[in-house]
Amino acid sequence: MTRTHRIAVIAGDGIGQEVVPEGVRALEAAAEAYGFELRTTEFDYASADYYLKHGTMLPDGWFEQLSAYDAIFFGAVGWPEVVPDHVSLWGSLIQFRRHFDQYVNLRPVKLLEGMKSPLAGRSPGDVDFYVVRENTEGEYSSIGGKMFEGTDRETVIQETVMTRTGVDRVLTYAFELAQRRPRRHLTSATKSNGISITMPYWDERVEEMGRRYPEVDVDKFHIDILAANFVLHPDWFDVVVGSNLFGDILSDLGPACTGTIGIAPSANINPERRFPSLFEPVHGSAPDIAGRGIANPVGQIWSAALMLEHLGEREAAAGIQRAFEKVLAGSPREVLTPDLGGDGSTQSLGKAVADGILAGA
Ligand code: NAI
Ligand code: MG
Repeated sequence: MTRTHRIAVIAGDGIGQEVVPEGVRALEAAAEAYGFELRTTEFDYASADYYLKHGTMLPDGWFEQLSAYDAIFFGAVGWPEVVPDHVSLWGSLIQFRRHFDQYVNLRPVKLLEGMKSPLAGRSPGDVDFYVVRENTEGEYSSIGGKMFEGTDRETVIQETVMTRTGVDRVLTYAFELAQRRPRRHLTSATKSNGISITMPYWDERVEEMGRRYPEVDVDKFHIDILAANFVLHPDWFDVVVGSNLFGDILSDLGPACTGTIGIAPSANINPERRFPSLFEPVHGSAPDIAGRGIANPVGQIWSAALMLEHLGEREAAAGIQRAFEKVLAGSPREVLTPDLGGDGSTQSLGKAVADGILAGA
């Protein structure tokens, strides 16, 4: 029996329309090279065009429709000239993350050969870690309110929510990941000196969980010095886990330390697989370069590798990773996109990676 994976493909706006086909090209090459079947279905919603036609970002039945897929392969959403960003984002991506309980946000941070790090003196191999962000609770809660608006007593409150279920499940994911990595090292982001109720609780759960994973070496830093250490000592990290807010900041800072935003991938994961997980590049729709065929497709292609890993296609995921790393490290100018210093196109780079996947299997 061939393994079959059903993928919902949503390109969205702007360069999403350009990089998603290159991601699909890589997936198809991997399917051919590693012997599995891919069934993709494209959806036109979660885009400004759809909004203009229908007045909403998503159709009524989106939840049932997308629930039938093994994963969602997503481009980017947002076209601020047409739809305000909070409407497009809350009307689509955030609905997916919440309703599909994608409580892990995972971002690899890896300095690749051929990429220029903004950190002086760092070379490939020095930076290779994961940021695991809690994606559903914590500081991003809707508990709170506003009182005495417009008066001197104007008061605003927003509460942080941490539940044992919510904290333990993201920690479990992070510990399991650390356990599988050669260095078996987990770093927790905290701020228990200043935030004196929720953060000591977070620390307590990390300690408790650490006892269940005796092979994993655990340390913790307050978020302020941790941010500094991402820049000063990126080689110290292997798996870094944080609450929603801390993870949000670290998961942008990490990839920023490794070069262009055009190559950074991310995964929004429901580890129990009750719902489909969603894989997308870190970047947005890039209206400034959209329609010109020069967007870097590697963030989308790397997201495809994360998706295959999640679907149990380890070898194919590694094959995609090897292929784009090799292409980034050693391709002529005419293959590479302008953000990499080349004068090639989205398609020339995407095609080079797909050829590499087929050749490397
Ligand atoms: P952006 O990531 O779209 O662009 C930031 C800068 O990076 C731009 O100069 C762009 O040209 C460049 N860039 C981005 N991706 C690139 C690629 N693949 N190759 C080469 N250069 C690339 O962020 P921005 O401008 O803040 O947002 C634009 C729109 O995208 C907004 O509507 C925003 O809400 C949306 N957005 C959506 C995200 C998502 O769908 N997850 C994430 C971030 C932004
Ligand atoms: Mg962010």
